[in-house]
Amino acid sequence: MADQIIHPKSNLARRAHVASFEQYEQLYAASLRDPRAFWRERAARVDWFHPFERTCRQDFGNAEVAWYLGGKLNAAYNCVDRWLEDRAEQTAIIWVADEPGEYRHISFHELHENVGRLANLLRAHGVRKGDRVCIYLPMIPEAAFAMLACARIGAVHSVVFAGFSAESLRDRIDDADCQVVLTANEGLRGGKVIPLKATVDAAVEGLPVRSVIVKQRTDTPTPMKAGRDYDFDEEMSKQRAFCPVEWMDSEDPLFVLYTSGSTGRPKGQLHTTGGYLVYASYTHELVFDWHRGDVHFCAADVGWITGHSYIVYGPLCNGATTVMFESTPVYPDASRYWQVVDDVQASIFYTAPTALRALIRFGDEPVKQYGRESLRVLGSVGEPINPEVWQWYHDVVGGGRCAVVDTWWQTETGGILISALPGATPCKPGSATFPLPGVRPMLVDEQGTELTGNDVAGNLCITGSWPGQARTILGDHERFRQTYFTTYPGRYFTGDGCRRDADGYYWITGRVDDVVNVSGHRLGTAEVESALVAHDYCAEAAVVACPHEVKGQSIYCYVIPGQGAEGVEPATIEQELVKAVRDAIGGIATPERVQVVPGLPKTRSGKIMRRILRKIAESNYEDLGDITTLAEPAVVEQIVAGHKAGKS
Ligand code: WT7
Repeated sequence: MADQIIHPKSNLARRAHVASFEQYEQLYAASLRDPRAFWRERAARVDWFHPFERTCRQDFGNAEVAWYLGGKLNAAYNCVDRWLEDRAEQTAIIWVADEPGEYRHISFHELHENVGRLANLLRAHGVRKGDRVCIYLPMIPEAAFAMLACARIGAVHSVVFAGFSAESLRDRIDDADCQVVLTANEGLRGGKVIPLKATVDAAVEGLPVRSVIVKQRTDTPTPMKAGRDYDFDEEMSKQRAFCPVEWMDSEDPLFVLYTSGSTGRPKGQLHTTGGYLVYASYTHELVFDWHRGDVHFCAADVGWITGHSYIVYGPLCNGATTVMFESTPVYPDASRYWQVVDDVQASIFYTAPTALRALIRFGDEPVKQYGRESLRVLGSVGEPINPEVWQWYHDVVGGGRCAVVDTWWQTETGGILISALPGATPCKPGSATFPLPGVRPMLVDEQGTELTGNDVAGNLCITGSWPGQARTILGDHERFRQTYFTTYPGRYFTGDGCRRDADGYYWITGRVDDVVNVSGHRLGTAEVESALVAHDYCAEAAVVACPHEVKGQSIYCYVIPGQGAEGVEPATIEQELVKAVRDAIGGIATPERVQVVPGLPKTRSGKIMRRILRKIAESNYEDLGDITTLAEPAVVEQIVAGHKAGKS
């Protein structure tokens, strides 16, 4: 059956930055004809203190890229000061508090004051250009102030999602050698209290952390350690609002953000200043068709790259009004997003398929309680969007009037690489459609041979650099090179599988490495496995992804009991190990199930056959393939029996 095509709405096309598919094709062709000229022109959208001399230097062999060489600029200046002249009183940030109806509007003028004070505060606590600062904050405006304050003085922020455990936080503080941590006494989400300061206390124990600055989000007092812990508001009140800007080199680091990979510990992806800012602001304007006056509502958390690029840097660098949402899609009920859309008059709404799948279960009524007339563009990110969910987003949330853009990208890419454009692209629900101008995707087979033409499927690579690309892994450039540039030499390997259909549309099919995508969040199976084997209830573990109706994928663990588990009930082992994973990583990594097994299916050379384990986890027992080559074929039957027993 031919895929259904949803054409761009004429009312959107009339005003769009890219107003037709022909225009997109022309722009795309021009960008490939002369990429340097294309990206040179795009750079004019930011304010340079000193112009750059060279647009791009690229050497994928050594994993070296640099953009806008010799240029000097400041990201905070571009996101804040630049707008003081003609939109000082315009709202920069609308903060949506956890409790419905509670909003705070922060103008560019107020943003400037807060960022300046906080920048001075950081300086007072010894932070200098190039130093790393850890931000472990809930979705409150102070998180954005903190990112921009770091940028203002040339410090490198490392935002850690406030759902990560003390152990994860500790690893990240330690890896980036952060000496200052910004946090809150508690976070509030969906009416639930999250004890952030207590987590920080546990995380920094024994680390050389000089200052912990604590914002009081709630009235609950928190123990403060004299000489280390400081009250945010008290410290802010001591500082003056004026703080001079540090002019940064285009290639000076802006931030580090940790991601999971298929092996070992999280990687600190390092993004630099000039290229990242140009890319975030350009793609924000282009993909969401942002125009002056539009309220941009991205429902992500600043702890992820989506929040960095499309809550903070992209929108603010364009002088937009951006929304920070503290709550959840279902608090107090499933109409919350749409209530906020109406209250703030959002033109753009951006979320993950997992949230939409959770909401669909409540039917159309909660959506229809609100008018949603301000909406024009609906975005999706983080995982493949099921065609039915795409259609629901379009028909019900968008009332058939809005563009839906499925945006494919990664922490490493800094910004969106493949997406429809609202006024231009005929969409096929479930496809991310086409590459953005300046982006050159390539599909390859296992051997690295390019798959040319249409109607092909393989692994997704990008063949040339784009300004938003991560430059290195903090402290381990060789790992960066190995991970992204050696599988297919001369190309950036994304880790995703992808199909290009007969009409040239790109369909991302998911990770081809040992990475699980839980609710749009990336987790390495190796990380979960090491959390399991760290417990003496577990001798050996194999973790696989399992399809999940709402989360997209969930985590399924097979464990061989360890010495400490002797005489312990399997149910207790399972509970304890679930807790061990939560403690080591955080709530997002909570396994769907831990199954105690007598052995694991291995080849004679000792390699775990994950393919078999994946099939069992999804109850696909018939199609296990050839198991005769296994060291112990009988173990498969026992695992299947255990899986069946656990389901009832
Ligand atoms: C991985 C990157 C980019 C911000 C959120 C996730 C998957 C992302 C899509 C999409 C299908 C997608 C990929 C990618 N992914 N967007 N529109 N369609 N898959 O960032 O944690 O760095 O994860 O998310 O598998 O590699 P991340």
